[in-house]
Amino acid sequence: MNLLSLLKQRFSTALSGLVDSPTDYLPLIRPAGDPKFGDYQANCAMPLAKVLGKPAKDIAGEIVSRLDVNDICHPPEIAGPGFINLKFKDEFLLQQFVAATIDERVGVEKSSNPQTVIIDYSSPNVAKPMHVGHLRSSVIGAALDKLFRFLGHHVTSDNHIGDWGTQFGRIIYGYKNFLDEAAYNTNPVGELSRLYRLVNQLSDYHELKTGLPKLEATVAELTDNLATAEAAPLDKKDKAAAQKLKDLRNALTAAKEEVVSAKSKIASVESNADLSAKAQAHPEIARLARVETAKLHQNDAENLALWHKFLPECLKAMDQVYDRLDIKFDMTLGESYYQPMLADVVSDLEKRGLAKESQGAMCVFIEDNSAPFIVRKADGAYTYATTDLATIQDRVERLHANTILYVVDARQSEHFQLLFKTAALWKYPHATLKHISFGTVMGEDRKPYKTRSGDTVGLESLLDEAVVRAKAIVEENESLKRDEDAKLSSDDIQLIAQRIGIGGIKYADLKHHRESDYVFNWDKMLAKKGDTATYIQYAYARVCSIFRKGNIDREQLRHDKSFKLTLTEPLERAMVIKILRFEEILEDAAADYRPNILCQYLFEIADLFSAFFDQHHVLNADNETVKKSRLKLCDITARVMNQGLGLLGIETIEQM
Ligand code: ARG
Repeated sequence: MNLLSLLKQRFSTALSGLVDSPTDYLPLIRPAGDPKFGDYQANCAMPLAKVLGKPAKDIAGEIVSRLDVNDICHPPEIAGPGFINLKFKDEFLLQQFVAATIDERVGVEKSSNPQTVIIDYSSPNVAKPMHVGHLRSSVIGAALDKLFRFLGHHVTSDNHIGDWGTQFGRIIYGYKNFLDEAAYNTNPVGELSRLYRLVNQLSDYHELKTGLPKLEATVAELTDNLATAEAAPLDKKDKAAAQKLKDLRNALTAAKEEVVSAKSKIASVESNADLSAKAQAHPEIARLARVETAKLHQNDAENLALWHKFLPECLKAMDQVYDRLDIKFDMTLGESYYQPMLADVVSDLEKRGLAKESQGAMCVFIEDNSAPFIVRKADGAYTYATTDLATIQDRVERLHANTILYVVDARQSEHFQLLFKTAALWKYPHATLKHISFGTVMGEDRKPYKTRSGDTVGLESLLDEAVVRAKAIVEENESLKRDEDAKLSSDDIQLIAQRIGIGGIKYADLKHHRESDYVFNWDKMLAKKGDTATYIQYAYARVCSIFRKGNIDREQLRHDKSFKLTLTEPLERAMVIKILRFEEILEDAAADYRPNILCQYLFEIADLFSAFFDQHHVLNADNETVKKSRLKLCDITARVMNQGLGLLGIETIEQM
């Protein structure tokens, strides 16, 4: 049951006699900010006053007189300039509460309009170990995956791995020239990634070495220009001149930094005898690596065999990370899967007059967009764009998707804009294509999160560290326990540490609005108090302990109909309303693809429960009626927390 939708229906009927488009005003019905104004509040009278040219208070009166909520609410009250306050009747809440209690889905109905959704998430480029940059797509994608399934949509998750890119040319070149066989045998992906970095470093070296004189010339030129500009008399009112000076200074700083960085990269090769010898022996490395990629793409037997040798190793390494994150995909169709379709995609685009030749390349020109969407490069190579178009074709035509969600970081937003516009012009104007974009994980220095030595943070080591830190917290907690019986076994401690550690990382990621960047902070994410997974997991365990202590069979309790819901305490009522809002929250989170809405809700529930439990007795309540009512409330609170955390991919613990 979605309480808000129910109210919206009633308001829609009431408003339809007053305005042409009642739906425009329905978003103005919201949960009340303060319980003293009721449970929900409708603020539609104020904007309607402007439309209808009458005082808002009169309009509120008119809406209320047309509104039929007698069966569910107390008589609506009009407050202030024209707010309509709504408070549910206890009988109605009881009825809904009972329905939720006996329902496996705690009262959440499935969508009446289920969509066939493909969620494209995680999608790393393979042959490099996964790093912190892959965390967000994996965690947000998995949460949306679970959420949409729970709401009854037909979801297929697809890990659209980059398994056909230019990195393979570099790896193949590295493998043919610099392989450390023993290292490959013990840790294939580690060795492949070393080779990849080595080939990159050597390619960069030659490129920088060639480019350095030009960079230095730029610095000299900018220095001259700046000196001339600074020598000219400064007219303080001339804003354009001031701006020009500023731009010049910035450009000079940037150019100087580029020179410093180039020199340091060059030096790091030249100061190392081995690297330097390799660089001298492979002057054409960048071009030759591109040749290896091209050969692979033309199905050269040797390179294809190497690709088939590397790929399973890469997938195995990725699966280890997914296992730890408890993420499963319905399919992992990498870019390579779509390669046989690309030629047809381009010729079809061309046939329809969408793709045109420009300087040897085939491009789709989209109105109002300066950059064309290149679907075949001048050298004949297909692109990321072509693959993504073929992917849409396959997903819509073979898998019958009507919605495709791409959980990919914000830096690719231009690609997706062009992709979606091209797809609509091509054959798929009715498919819902959405870029679920997200921000960056930052370090305390507010720059993308790196290790102290400046390397990207590996995802596996991050997960390891989370568990180690969580374990220290659990152990400290144990040492404070006075009751010997409450002490945990070492297996339990390990399991709890895992759930708290991994849950903590996931929650810290999901609780932020996905579009914003966030700062990675271990202490904050594992804190026992505050907006953390630990706090909610702890609240959950506290509820479980009530049932343990009272020796209560929860299953039996749930189906016991001989009870009265006591809502005398404001916190009891607040909890009931909160519980009954679960469906509304899930639908909101799904509508905006925002797991943080669910995080916020779970945090509020944990907070309410903690306040309630601190102030009121459950097992020692004044009488049996109150006790049973509160036990039921505790039981459903725990179930909502468990279900909600589960949708976020976070596991609960019965005893902590
Ligand atoms: N492999 C890409 C990357 O790491 C992300 C792929 C996202 N999905 C897609 N269909 N383009 O940047």
